[in-house]
Amino acid sequence: MADDQVSLTIDGQQVTVPKGTLVIRAAEQLRITIPRFCDHPLLAPAGACRQCFVDIALARAPDQPRQMTSCTTEVAEGMVVNTHLTSDAARASQEAQLEFLLINHPLDCPVCDKGGECPLQDQTMSYGPGESRFVEEKRHFEKPIPVSDLVLLDRERCILCDRCTRFAKEVAGDPLIHFMDRGNETQVNTFPGHPFASYFSGNTVQICPVGALTAVPYRFKARPWDLDEVESTCTSCSFGCRIVVQSSRNQVLRYVGVDSDAVNWGWMCDKGRFDFEAVNSDDRLREPLVRDEGLTLKPAAWNDALRRAAAAIRDGLERTGPAGFAVVGGARLTNEDQYAWSKLTKGLIGSDNIDAQVGDGLPAEAVLGLPRATIDDACRPGGTVLLLGPDVKEELSVLYLRLRHAAINDHVTIIEIS
Ligand code: SF4
Ligand code: SF4
Ligand code: FES
Repeated sequence: MADDQVSLTIDGQQVTVPKGTLVIRAAEQLRITIPRFCDHPLLAPAGACRQCFVDIALARAPDQPRQMTSCTTEVAEGMVVNTHLTSDAARASQEAQLEFLLINHPLDCPVCDKGGECPLQDQTMSYGPGESRFVEEKRHFEKPIPVSDLVLLDRERCILCDRCTRFAKEVAGDPLIHFMDRGNETQVNTFPGHPFASYFSGNTVQICPVGALTAVPYRFKARPWDLDEVESTCTSCSFGCRIVVQSSRNQVLRYVGVDSDAVNWGWMCDKGRFDFEAVNSDDRLREPLVRDEGLTLKPAAWNDALRRAAAAIRDGLERTGPAGFAVVGGARLTNEDQYAWSKLTKGLIGSDNIDAQVGDGLPAEAVLGLPRATIDDACRPGGTVLLLGPDVKEELSVLYLRLRHAAINDHVTIIEIS
């Protein structure tokens, strides 16, 4: 066996994984899912929720299993792990931990946005106690309070898993949401006058394992089982994050980031996540407009608008011929739109004068001559990325997260020329 591999036994099954693998991940390779709340594969281990207890016996003390959190414990050669599937003690710990987490948790499920897609609900049903012994008054906080324009916080529902806080600090680099106070008074919050003003705040709503963080545009709009969904690509910038578009009653209600290894790792920026409101906006053009004799734009039927456009094109062609005719499609069009413009310009009009930009990008011949690389290629450990032009955080926000991760964790050098 290679030096960098470790063999261990989980619930009686042997598995070999790279050194440094966490027990919870090694179990996943055997399709054993250990209950968890704070664990997230893209965040540093925190051991905050204590839900993932397993029995672990080390090779040097096989008869002395200890209860350990599997999301913070690395595998070791000869380790024997028993999860809730094979250990009564692990099962009892997980049940006790759920009882503990529910002590202060409000009975909000019927009115909580997370209801129906909530890990706390699901794991309580699967591993929790049937009833609570807690008869005392639960902890109360004012609810909900805004932590930003887009995100509301309900501290009563928070299980202090440290996911939102770790995301803000480790992934976004905007450490604006924190734990405050101590003991029973511990709460997650922002400091007065310092809202969670991050381009990436919506990701915390997506990864919060309870309904403590909710998105203003989605609140009380739908239940998860009412949603129709289709996987798609965000079109708000050219990075192309994988997303799920969710709708109900013919109205788009939510975008959720999809864990696409090659692109966005499940993250989205707030611009992309929340711009679906434009789809149903009253300000959106819903019909063609043509100018009347006084040059005022007036709604028109599609046939009339297309006839006017065709007449204008024909008129222009008569005056200048195809060589005098040019189309600038615009850099924000989709590939399909660009294709349609090309087909019209080159195929019907007979002109080669077509571009997607007005001299505001690199010349096509320079770009086409460069070697191509995927984002993963560019972010390969130890590499160098030369950034030409854009303010990447403003214009390609999730690429900024990928580059930030590469620079901090994988020693990638970033050179920016702008
Ligand atoms: Fe965890 Fe949600 Fe609480 Fe943040 S708000 S600590 S993500 S439960
Ligand atoms: Fe959409 Fe933002 Fe991703 Fe660009 S970075 S594709 S705008 S979510
Ligand atoms: Fe392991 Fe939270 S998932 S302690």
